[in-house]
Amino acid sequence: MSKRRPIIAGNWKCHKTVPEAVELAAQVVQAVAPIQGVEVALCPPFIALNAVRRELSGSAVGLGAQNVYLEEGAYTGEIAPRMLTGLCDYVIIGHSERRHQFGEDDQLINAKLRTLLAHDLAPILCVGEKLEQNERGETEAVVAAQLRAGFKGVDGQRFLALGGIIAYEPVWAIGTGKACHGPTANRIIGRLRQLFGDLYGPEAAEALRIQYGGSVKPANVDEFMEQPEIDGALVGGASLQLEAFLPLVQRTAALRAATE
Ligand code: PGA
Repeated sequence: MSKRRPIIAGNWKCHKTVPEAVELAAQVVQAVAPIQGVEVALCPPFIALNAVRRELSGSAVGLGAQNVYLEEGAYTGEIAPRMLTGLCDYVIIGHSERRHQFGEDDQLINAKLRTLLAHDLAPILCVGEKLEQNERGETEAVVAAQLRAGFKGVDGQRFLALGGIIAYEPVWAIGTGKACHGPTANRIIGRLRQLFGDLYGPEAAEALRIQYGGSVKPANVDEFMEQPEIDGALVGGASLQLEAFLPLVQRTAALRAATE
């Protein structure tokens, strides 16, 4: 594990009513309070953000939104960046479900990234290849193209200063129970770091946190967290119950402590 501080982020997706979100957030706050060396963040649905924020206040647990639109205006059903400034720390953009179920392309994701930086919000930019791209051996080319397009015209130093993160999430591993092989994820993430370095220099690359996401659970978390390039996890299914989420944070902390 590197010197970068790992971050375990729970992406609750379209799950939890507001009371359920508040209950789980309270459990997480209490359970992770004694754990050192790992950052924890929760990304509830938009309608629970404010209530969860109140629950997290005074704790070290961070808060993220799962999506954002580009600006205020006549955009029924959307949320503008200014509404999130001061409310949460992180905003997930480019998640495969947004890319592939809601038709978001690299150009829109790049615009979202730039608008987040303009509104003092830290992006969690997701990249990842589909199964057929993986089978054709196109993984590196696909994620490299997503990274380059995502960062087009972006000030990399500002991205880092705000705490921006990249998440490598192979589409075929998300919600399938079929995780990527740890060393393979490490290699792809190392490549993403190298590409970020090509854009912004070696120090920026060294500082950048890159998570793995896709079927991370207590049974396989060690396989990812012991890799030197992987700086935490973006977790869907296993973030919905404390019994599954807490061991991810505990194991990450234990592995980190063992390498210090
Ligand atoms: P999963 O989802 O952990 O349920 O595979 C990960 C994600 O979509 O971020």
